[in-house]
Amino acid sequence: MTPYKLTVIICLCGCLVQVHPFDWTDLDPFNHIKSTEWYHKIKNLMSTTFNDKHQIPRGKGNYSVGCIDLMFDFSVKGSLLRLYYPSRDSEDDVHHNTVWIPSKEYFLGLSKFLGLHKLMGKFITHYFSSVTSPANWDAPLKNGEKYPLIIFSHGLGAFRTVYSALGIDLASHGFIVAAVEHRDESASATFYFEDELALQRNNKTWLPYKQLSSEMTEYAQRHQQVLQRAEECSKALNLILDINEGKAVENALNSSFNLQQLEDMIDENKIAIMGHSFGGATAIQSLSEDNRFRCAIALDAWMNPLSDELYSKVVQPIFFINSERFQTAENVMKMRQFYLGDKETKMITIKGSVHQNFPDFTFVTGKILGYIFSLKGNIDSDVAIGLTSKASLAFLQKHLDLQRNFDQWDPLIEGEDVNLMRDSNAGSQNNLHRPPCIRSWIPWIGAAFKFGKSPLEFIEQARIKYGPIFTIFALGNRITFVTEEEGFNVFFKSKEVNFENAVEDHIYRTVSIPRNIFLTLHGPLYGLMKNKMKMSNLYQFSEKLIEGAHEQLESLGTNGNQELYNLVRNTLYPVTVNAVFGKGLYPTTQKKIQEFHEHFKIYDDGFQYGSQIPECFLRKWTKSKKWLLNLLEQRISDLERVESSDDLTMMQMIYKTVRQETKELMPPKYAVLMLWASLSNSVPVAYWTIAFILYHPSVYKNLMEGITSVFGEAGKNEIEMSENDLKKLPLLKWCVLEAIRLVSPGIIARKVIEPVKILNYTVPSGDILMMSPFWVHRNPKYFSEPELFKPERWEKANLEKNAFLDWFVAFGGGKYPCPGRWLAILKIEIFVALIFYKYQFKLLDPFPKKNVNQIMGIQKPATPCRVEYKCRK
Ligand code: HEM
Repeated sequence: MTPYKLTVIICLCGCLVQVHPFDWTDLDPFNHIKSTEWYHKIKNLMSTTFNDKHQIPRGKGNYSVGCIDLMFDFSVKGSLLRLYYPSRDSEDDVHHNTVWIPSKEYFLGLSKFLGLHKLMGKFITHYFSSVTSPANWDAPLKNGEKYPLIIFSHGLGAFRTVYSALGIDLASHGFIVAAVEHRDESASATFYFEDELALQRNNKTWLPYKQLSSEMTEYAQRHQQVLQRAEECSKALNLILDINEGKAVENALNSSFNLQQLEDMIDENKIAIMGHSFGGATAIQSLSEDNRFRCAIALDAWMNPLSDELYSKVVQPIFFINSERFQTAENVMKMRQFYLGDKETKMITIKGSVHQNFPDFTFVTGKILGYIFSLKGNIDSDVAIGLTSKASLAFLQKHLDLQRNFDQWDPLIEGEDVNLMRDSNAGSQNNLHRPPCIRSWIPWIGAAFKFGKSPLEFIEQARIKYGPIFTIFALGNRITFVTEEEGFNVFFKSKEVNFENAVEDHIYRTVSIPRNIFLTLHGPLYGLMKNKMKMSNLYQFSEKLIEGAHEQLESLGTNGNQELYNLVRNTLYPVTVNAVFGKGLYPTTQKKIQEFHEHFKIYDDGFQYGSQIPECFLRKWTKSKKWLLNLLEQRISDLERVESSDDLTMMQMIYKTVRQETKELMPPKYAVLMLWASLSNSVPVAYWTIAFILYHPSVYKNLMEGITSVFGEAGKNEIEMSENDLKKLPLLKWCVLEAIRLVSPGIIARKVIEPVKILNYTVPSGDILMMSPFWVHRNPKYFSEPELFKPERWEKANLEKNAFLDWFVAFGGGKYPCPGRWLAILKIEIFVALIFYKYQFKLLDPFPKKNVNQIMGIQKPATPCRVEYKCRK
C-alpha cells in the first residue's frame, strides 16, 4: 500500500546522497555522509543486513572445478559465456577463486532492475564485490576423458555469473557447463565491444536491462526475447563445438587459458540445455529449434514467453524442477502440456523453496536480506541446490546415456524425498483457481511501488484490467480485492473472513495495544459502543452537540473569511471531543488548542503509514502519538473518579471495561484510538457536505428554504433544535449521505482465515481481503451517474428504518460496521443546519480537489477552499 521498511531506508539514503554525493569507487560510502543519529542507524542496519555473509558452496563431486569467461566475436552479435569445467589440480600453478560478479555495472544494473535507489546499488556493490565462487580461475582443463556439455540460460534480470553454485556442482561431477549471457536486454547488464580499437582499449559498451514498452503486449516482447535467447544458446554451442573440432577460435577477453585444451574434449552426442525462470523457457524454446540438445532441465520455468505452437514441436525429454512458492496453476498447466506424446517429461517441486533458491543470491545473503527479498525459502539453501543438482544428474545420466553412478538419485526424479513432491503444488486446491495476481519481478516488494504511487487509481485500473476479483502482491502480502456483489457478500457475511485479524497488527502499530488484549476486548467494547451510539440512544448526545455547536459558532463572530476546512475543524473538534469524552479533555487556551491541532493532524495524516511502518521510521508521527497518549493519560484520573452511573460518557464506559479486563495501562491507548475514530472521518465529511452544498446552488436554495421553514427567518442568536426538527429536513440528511458516498474510505479490510470461494476462484487463507467503498460508490452498476452530487437519490432509501441505499458501504458492514455512524450523521446534520441558519457564504476558490493518495478513511481536501462568511439577517 505505502512505502515500507526498505523503501523508507532507500528514501532516506536518497535524501542523504543528495546532500553528500560520492563516487562508487569509495571504499566506504558512508565516509561522505555527515554523522547524524540517522547515519548511525542506517549504517548499523545496513551492516547487519549485509555483513552476515555466507559462501557459495563448493562442488560435491570428485572433480576440481575451473572457470573462465569466453567472448567469441567481440561485437554485439557474438557470444559471451562463463565456462565451468573439471580442472587439473597442479601443485605448480596457483589459481585464485573466481570473482563472482566482475564489474560494478552488473551490481548497478541489478539494483536498477530491482527498482532500488542508486545508492542501494552502491551499497550492494560495496558489500558484495569481494564475494568469490569456489572455482579456480583460468585453471587448466583436466584431460583424459570426453565431457558432456550443458548450455545454461539465466533468468530475467540475471547474468552469466550468478548460477555458479549449480554450475560448479555439475562441473565437479564431470560436466562442462557454459553459462550464456544474453543480449536481448533481459540481463541486468551485459557488454560487448564496438570495434577492434575499443577491444584493444578494453572500452566496453554496456547493454543495460530494458523495461517493457507500453506499445506492445508483454507476451509479444518476451516472445521476441525468448527467440533471441534460444538463438544465442545455439550460437554458443556452435562456437564451443568449433573449438572442440579444432577450429581456430579466439577469446576476445584476456585469459591465460589456452582454448586448444578444449579440443576433442566434449562429447558431441551428450549435450543438454538448462535454464532458470526465463532461462527455463529459453531451454524449452532451444529444444524445439536445435535437436543437438538431447534434453532440457527447466528450473522454475516461466512459460509465458512461449508460443502455443511450440508445445507440439518439442520431442526431447524435459525435466521441470519447480520451487514451491513461485509457480501458479496457469504456468504449471502449460508445463503439463508436455506430458502428452511419447517424450519423457518429469516434474518435481522442492518443498519450502522460493524462486531465488536456484541462483547464488540465496547463499551470499544473510537471513535479513534473504527474507526481505525472498531469496531464501523455508528449506536450507544448500539442501535445495543439492537436490536440484542430484535430480538433474540422474535425469541427465538417463537421457544422455552416461555411464556414471548418478542413477543412485533416480528416486529424486520421481519426487521421492522428504523435501520433494512429485508434480506441483500449484495445481492443488490451495491455488488451483487463485484470482489473477498483480506482482512484478521484484521479489517480496512485488507491485508495492506501483500501488503506493497512486493507490486509488491503481485499484480501479486493476479492476478494469483483471476483472471483478484480483490480488495485488506487495511487500510480501497478498491483498485480494473484491469489486462486485458476490465478493461483497463474502466480505461482509462469510465465516471464513475476519475483521479483528485484519486490523490487529494495525492497532498494535498505531496505538501499541498488544494483539492478545485487542482480540480479547474487541467484542465487549464493540458491543458497548454499538449500544451507546445506537439510534435510540442518540438523544443522550444531541443536547451536548447542539449546545457545543452554538458555543463554537459564537467564536466566528459576525463575519470573516477562512479556509473552510479550518473553520469546520475548529468548530467540530471540541464539539465531538466534549460529546464523546466529556468536558475537560479538550484544551481551552489558544496555544494548547493549536498544539492539539498540530499533533492530531500529524497523527491522523500519518495513520495509514503508522499502521504499517515501524515507529522508528516515523519520528514526527511517533512524537505526536506520544503527545496524544500523554494528554489522555493525564485525563485518566478524572475518568477513575466517576462513580457508576447511567450518565457515563462513552469514554468512561470504555475505561471501565478496559480497566476491569487488563491490569496494564491500556485505557489511554484505547482513548487515543477513540479520539482518532471520532474525529478523523466525521470532520472531513462535514467539510465536504458544506462544500458540495455551496457548490450546488439549487441544492443550497432548497435546503435554505427547508431551514427557514423549520427554524424561522434568520436573525435569532440561538435556535432551539430537536431531533424532530431534523426529521423535517430530509434533504439535509440526504446531502450528508451523498457527500459521504462521494468521499468514502478508499479501503476496508478483512483477513481470510479459511480458503474461501469467490466467483470461480479460491482465495487462500492469509490473504487480506479488501473492498473499496470509494470505488463501489463510483460504479454505475450500483449508483447511476455516480460522479454527480445528487442528494435526491437518497429519497429511495428507507432511512426511517435506518437502511441506507443498497451497496452504500462507507460505514463498512457485516458483524462490525462503524458503531459511530448514527452519531456522525447526527453531528454533521446539527452542524450544517446551524451554520447555514446563521451564516451566508461566498466562495473564493474553485471546488476543492480530493487527496487521492489517501486510501484509509475519508479523503481530505488537497486544494484550498476559502470562504467569506457573514451573519444572515
Ligand atoms: C462519517 C463518518 C464516519 C465514517 C465514514 C466511518 C467509517 C468507518 C468504517 C468504514 C469503519 C470500519 C468498518 C468495517 O470495516 O466494516 C469504522 C469503524 C469504526 N468507527 Fe467509524 N466512521 C465514521 C465516524 C465515526 C465516529 C463519529 C465514531 C465515534 C464516535 C466512529 C467510531 C468507529 C469505531 C470505534 C470503529 C471500529 C469498530 C470496531 O472496532 O469494530 N466512527 N468507521
